[in-house]
Amino acid sequence: MKNHEQVLENIYHRGQERVWNGREILEELIEKYGMPNKVEYSKRQSLKRIFMMILQGEEAAWHVSLQLGTMLKSIPAKMAATSQAHDEARHFYVLRDYLEMYECTSVPLPKPVIKALTMVKNTNDLAKKLLGMQLMVEPIALTIFHEIRKKEIEPILTNLMPYYEKDEARHVALGVYYLPQIIKDMNRVEIVSLMMWQLRLFMLELKGLAALKKDFEVLGISPNELFALAEKKQLEALEEVSEQMGWGANVWKPLRGILRYQKNKILG
Ligand SMILES: [Fe+2]
Ligand SMILES: [Fe+2]
Repeated sequence: MKNHEQVLENIYHRGQERVWNGREILEELIEKYGMPNKVEYSKRQSLKRIFMMILQGEEAAWHVSLQLGTMLKSIPAKMAATSQAHDEARHFYVLRDYLEMYECTSVPLPKPVIKALTMVKNTNDLAKKLLGMQLMVEPIALTIFHEIRKKEIEPILTNLMPYYEKDEARHVALGVYYLPQIIKDMNRVEIVSLMMWQLRLFMLELKGLAALKKDFEVLGISPNELFALAEKKQLEALEEVSEQMGWGANVWKPLRGILRYQKNKILG
């Protein structure tokens, strides 16, 4: 078996080995720390808005991994996507049950976030779907989980985040190891179309983060820093893709320039 196929199959096996019982873990944490409503109201409201967005993201990731399970022809990649679908179902129900405990008013979600997730769910193009979910959406979720955990705002959430982070890192790996195999068969027109699509998705993500700027600030998280960390994670994943392709890391340089410019314009 070739090396990258082994890596993809291992994503499935590692998923099996590290599976965690969402109901048990959530119950244990509630027993230990009590309900999450001790956090002051403004923070609770902001946490709820950010994690309602994450919940939509988990639902989209679940939907997309099920689509990938049928779209992918390679057996090792199919195994990795199947294991991801199992993880995302767990991420979804644990977060849904956790958020149901919050006593606060309903929170509308920023339209660009909904648009970005719909774009990834609705595309029939395998490269766009993999690039969009595994390398553009998952790294943002990972960055938010990491920053929220570091701030230790609400103990149940702080203790849940490492479980999510470990799973999400495997999902990024599916994109990194399989996307190069799709890109290598694409012509220039298809590659340009993929990059334009990626830029559109990126702009929506940026606008979505900008709409949640106040919520991050309430929680003591700088939106600019969060963006810089998420961008770093996305670019690292893209650089790994170009390394696998035998391209230089510089292919993403123009993209980085555009992102910086747009970031300064939108986030300030
Ligand atoms: Fe997830
Ligand atoms: Fe994921």
